Amino acid sequence: MPLVLNFNKMNEKNRYWIKKLICIVVCLCTLSLVNGQKFEGLADTPPMGWSSWNNFQCDINEKVIMEIADAMVETGLRDAGYVYVNLDDCWQVGRDSLGFIIADPEKFPSGMKALSDYIHSKGLKMGIYSDAGKITCDGHPGSLGHEYQDAFQYARWGIDYLKLDWCATQNVNPVGAYNLMRDALYAAGRPILFSICEWGLSKPWTWAQNTAHMWRTHWDILDCFDCQGSFVTDDNGIVSGVNNGVLSVLDHQVNSLRQYSGPGHWNDPDMLMVGVNRLNVNQSRAHFSMWCMLAAPLILGNDVRNMTPETKNILLNKEVIAIDQDKTGIQGLKFLAEDGLEFWFKPLTNNDWAFCILNRTKTDKEYILNWQKFNLYDEVSKRFTDFDSKVYNMYNLWSKKNEGNTQKNKKIVIPGEDVVLYRLNLKNN
Ligand code: GLA
Repeated sequence: MPLVLNFNKMNEKNRYWIKKLICIVVCLCTLSLVNGQKFEGLADTPPMGWSSWNNFQCDINEKVIMEIADAMVETGLRDAGYVYVNLDDCWQVGRDSLGFIIADPEKFPSGMKALSDYIHSKGLKMGIYSDAGKITCDGHPGSLGHEYQDAFQYARWGIDYLKLDWCATQNVNPVGAYNLMRDALYAAGRPILFSICEWGLSKPWTWAQNTAHMWRTHWDILDCFDCQGSFVTDDNGIVSGVNNGVLSVLDHQVNSLRQYSGPGHWNDPDMLMVGVNRLNVNQSRAHFSMWCMLAAPLILGNDVRNMTPETKNILLNKEVIAIDQDKTGIQGLKFLAEDGLEFWFKPLTNNDWAFCILNRTKTDKEYILNWQKFNLYDEVSKRFTDFDSKVYNMYNLWSKKNEGNTQKNKKIVIPGEDVVLYRLNLKNN
């Protein structure tokens, strides 16, 4: 026992330093065990839920959110898989004397714990929003310098999902900032799904697989099909991007991003605009179908308390949702663009394919599907469609009809600003 003897013989000062050293080593070991990890198993398929931003922006309060939770259950949205109820910006008003974040007492008089208890009692999960900078995009307190405190507060409140935005972040490094919040969430101990929202600026798909469960790839989506919004400027007034309608956001989900998305970590082209103001039924169907082809998170943006039957039909089509939620978790690919039409394929389980034809124009288009033209090899899934030697059944996912098989050419009509979406399967062939 020479070490113990020496320790006992040491003077008070040396003993103090040895104890301090042991403490530091133990702390570092503990930190290295918890650091660098996100919660696994929270997003094996793309996350599904609802968020307050697209329809309500800052006009939120606990009554609205509770009514939304009720409607998610009554309409069948929860049972179709939409389980997260997410507060976006504007729920926070300040910090207390210890630095803990305070929820707006006028909008949320019962407090966040009571709200999450209510949401959980409905079989749903609760999401919340913050920002990696000093203030959020709407000017409320952000998490910079309070990451661990905020993570512990969210855990105490029973939060299940955090979206972390990127406003007011001059001189903040995105990799460091998002990893810091990941570590804080992990240390807080409650499994919280982590969503990065820095609009694709630092290409998070190249570095965030072990940081978060999803990352935005683009600026904000607008509630229009083929339009461009106002320019986004940074805090110095420099134009850094532009918010866009559905088609333009889609154009940024290029094939080269496919390899980065998959179970546990998804490319996020932004929340859905189905049923929000300016999108008509055809455009909404096209938007929803394409997000499913992309294996995108399906976060609803509409007021689910007041849905038209058409909006319900779109959002509750379980066979289309199944394309998005397919266990292979592979983002679809754009194979061909021709005369305003786009032809997309998504590999599915059991060697099935989802096949979507998008009509970007306003006029209905007739098209003859010549299957030989669609023989393709997909580098990401390592699969061939192989229409020369395989015969697939064609099931139309919107009309819910079997439409024969791929043995012969087939004439189809794709309505303007709409899609025709098939599941191609080899069953009974
Ligand atoms: C940013 C985000 C949006 C929304 C708003 C809230 O613009 O990209 O999704 O969260 O902030 O202020």
